[in-house]
Amino acid sequence: MTLILARSAGFCYGVRRAVEMAEETARQGRPCVMLGSIIHNTDVIRRLEEQGLRTVERPEEVPAGCTVLIRSHGEGRAVHQLLADRGAEILDATCPNVTHIHKVVQQAEAQGRRPVIVGTPDHPEVLAIAGWCRSPAVVSGAEELERWLQEDPERRDFPLTFVSQTTSTRKIWDDCVKKAKKECTNAEFFDTICGATSKRQEEARQLAQTCGMMVVIGDRKSSNTRRLAEICREACPDVRLIERAADLDLSHMPRAERVGITAGASTPAWIIKEVYDKMS
Ligand code: F3S
Repeated sequence: MTLILARSAGFCYGVRRAVEMAEETARQGRPCVMLGSIIHNTDVIRRLEEQGLRTVERPEEVPAGCTVLIRSHGEGRAVHQLLADRGAEILDATCPNVTHIHKVVQQAEAQGRRPVIVGTPDHPEVLAIAGWCRSPAVVSGAEELERWLQEDPERRDFPLTFVSQTTSTRKIWDDCVKKAKKECTNAEFFDTICGATSKRQEEARQLAQTCGMMVVIGDRKSSNTRRLAEICREACPDVRLIERAADLDLSHMPRAERVGITAGASTPAWIIKEVYDKMS
């Protein structure tokens, strides 16, 4: 059996930056809390908590005067304001790609345009982007865009600015752009899909086409990991989504000649190595 590990497997730039900022703060011994899970990986969060960081779920729980780490998904304007009002020192680990989207939607509204965010409505990144707008629309794909346009036909002539959740698939975005170009008279488009995401997805797709089995490593809460598994399933008959090496049941291994391994953006190198070593 040949094992092939995707080159793009594991931490993306934005996640690595957030984890390094958290670790550096822990090393300095500064009192610091993380607002929400800074990445979608329980093992990484547990490690950070062992180093002295604590997770809080709501900005109201941040102790006054404490340092607070904002995750790579970012937070909306109201949360930043609330933290500032509490006297918290903000350590902003929002991925620069996400900060760019915040700027695009703010600029669009300043120009009298309406932002349309293509993404999963309840995903923290999408909620944060919407949190920098006064009146955003969020659509999960072309069908929902169609429904939104039908609800009020005048929307077809609104000045609309489309942005994408960074981890959306190219197909979802392309379908929305196609529909909007056909139906809307004043739409502009900012393709804000993260390059790291599309590269990882493309590599996984190509690898899956040549493998009898694919192992996708990542937290089940991570949407980019789940999407990665979906993409692999389109091309490969046997896809295992696992969180860590212990989830891999070696007694049920097929006789595939080639087995591919990939991992979501929140999967640390040590977990990938454990899986690789176990399979080797
Ligand atoms: Fe940033 Fe892309 Fe990662 S947006 S957090 S580098 S997936």
